[in-house]
Amino acid sequence: MQQKPLKFDYNSIDEMQIAAKEILPKLVSEYLNAGAGKGITLERNLSSFNNWALIPKRLKGILNPNTGIEMFGHQYSVPFGAAPVGIQGLFHKDAEIATTHACMNHNAPCILSTVSNLKYAEASKSCKVKPWFQLYPTDNFKVTKHLLTAVEEAGAEVIVLTVDVPVLGKRKHNARALLNHPDFRHLSFGNLKGVLNAEDNIHHPGLNWDLFSLIKETTNCKIVVKGIVHPDDAKLCIEHGADGIMISNHGGRQLDSGLSTLDALVKIEPIVPKDYPLFIDSGFRTAEGILKAIILGAKMVFLGRPICYGLAVGGQSGVDHLWKILRQDLERTMRLVGIANLESIDKSQIEKL
Ligand SMILES: Cc1cc2nc3c(=O)[nH]c(=O)nc-3n(C[C@H](O)[C@H](O)[C@H](O)COP(=O)(O)O)c2cc1C
Repeated sequence: MQQKPLKFDYNSIDEMQIAAKEILPKLVSEYLNAGAGKGITLERNLSSFNNWALIPKRLKGILNPNTGIEMFGHQYSVPFGAAPVGIQGLFHKDAEIATTHACMNHNAPCILSTVSNLKYAEASKSCKVKPWFQLYPTDNFKVTKHLLTAVEEAGAEVIVLTVDVPVLGKRKHNARALLNHPDFRHLSFGNLKGVLNAEDNIHHPGLNWDLFSLIKETTNCKIVVKGIVHPDDAKLCIEHGADGIMISNHGGRQLDSGLSTLDALVKIEPIVPKDYPLFIDSGFRTAEGILKAIILGAKMVFLGRPICYGLAVGGQSGVDHLWKILRQDLERTMRLVGIANLESIDKSQIEKL
């Protein structure tokens, strides 16, 4: 996609959120920013970072902090990336292709949703390192199998299996209602077109460990389980051969009154092997927050709504800008805290208040 990069002067994700709110239709902005129920989980995700303080070590002579991280055989330049967000055409006409291209420019990991507007093969066509594919296991295994086969044929190497949507959380606006709006009726689900029948359910309340094992047998891709918050489930993921765990509460859009994911990380980290791929999302808006999660044991951090703020303000250029701010801020914060690289983390540099 050829486009002239736009220049922005937003200094933070919060500023991008304010700008996006002015640009997006009210209905879309509310759909994007809301949490489930009273928004208690949503609020906890955002506020729990304040319960932790970073404690710098000085005189370490760090000239060029290294933000790179190796994961699943690829060297990424940054430890943060795009969480799966469905229907990105709500936020910009280029939809998921703007996100995959911005991630490619910054060598950041990218996860594409089952309910993307564009088909995985199309959105990932020019990516050298293929995006990970987020799978909603449908209640019709033929559909699930079709999705797994199609994305593997298109080059996917990692499946992110979302397990925290047996049913949709209680939300004021749902995507289905939005797609009935005349402005958005043209948007379709590229991965599901001609595959999902009217009677099939994209959210499978019967999902259990047997189905996990069947999915694992059906694909050669690595499987990351997304939506884990309980240490017992983390143990089961490892016992069942999951290749990674994404601690997530869906950005507070599913169960209300839940733990923040940072608090869940503190419970889960002690039970996973040292180099196990442990990821986290929900509520990350600053480099300090990202660094806190990494010191507490996450290998990578993913962002959902901020991608949509980037899309709203400028499509690919907006997401490029988001990654630029975060990378600059992360390098600055690593220098301030005294961390030269993300592989040699010192746990004494964080404290619960
Ligand atoms: C508008 C929207 C759509 C989402 N769609 C999906 C999806 O299709 N699949 C999925 O696993 N998670 C989905 N999520 C959840 C995100 O992957 C992620 O867990 C969450 O947004 C992280 O929280 P954050 O928005 O505070 O960064 C969606 C989130 C939002 C805000």
